[in-house]
Amino acid sequence: MNTTESDGSQLILALSKGRIFDDTLPLLEAAGITVTENPETSRKLILNTNDPGVRVLIVRATDVPTYVQHGAADFGVAGKDVLLEHGGEGLYQPIDLHIAECRMSVAVNAGFDYETAVRQGARLRVATKFVNTARQHFASKGVHVDLIKLYGSMELAPLVGLSDAIVDVVSTGGTLRANNLVEVEKIMDISSRLVVNQAALKLKRERLQPILDAFQRASSKG
Ligand code: ATP
Ligand code: PRP
Repeated sequence: MNTTESDGSQLILALSKGRIFDDTLPLLEAAGITVTENPETSRKLILNTNDPGVRVLIVRATDVPTYVQHGAADFGVAGKDVLLEHGGEGLYQPIDLHIAECRMSVAVNAGFDYETAVRQGARLRVATKFVNTARQHFASKGVHVDLIKLYGSMELAPLVGLSDAIVDVVSTGGTLRANNLVEVEKIMDISSRLVVNQAALKLKRERLQPILDAFQRASSKG
């Protein structure tokens, strides 16, 4: 079957390919659910599991909250960065899964004196995918910014003079170092959360709760 609708008998989980899919697999295993198809080798966007009542949608990381908000998926896994940009409307966020951990930071060219620019009240050009988070962060510091919305490869912007600074997620710092950028301010720690459609939580509680419990147990273990 190629299509799906989130009816009462099915549970639909929205995941993005890559680190979130990979890090969610062990949590699903803890709930007795094995995904039987591999999104890295298959072009299919609806994946089966060993449980005929559970299927997995493969969507862009930024689209996970949208699928869950509208009930096209009953639950999903999304980064706090993505959830803050989405706003969280219609979503219940019961569990911090402690996966895909990183931080949201401000970074600049190695030669740029960020502290002085901020102190002197300079108007900063900031390139980012995370415009809501960035706007809120700089507003709370009283720093005037012109935000430039990008969809990826933020590290390039200061290198070519598109911006003075970027707001992006950082993990090892390897991408910043490779591009001669320095992290000048941490905005917040980031990890991925389980998000549940609020209506599904009521209507499918019996089916969802054991999975939520297994995720909770497995994610707070290590
Ligand atoms: P999209 O495909 O929608 O543009 P994306 O490319 O950011 O999104 P991923 O790279 O799979 O999607 O990242 C998913 C989540 O993992 C992010 O929302 C963030 O919370 C976290 N993340 C991003 N980069 C890292 C990293 N280098 N290390 C650890 N976690 C990360
Ligand atoms: C993310 C992010 C940074 C990088 C940071 O990119 O956009 O570029 O990770 O990680 P680091 O500090 O360990 O270098 P990702 O690897 O997800 O590539 P993408 O943005 O193309 O998905």
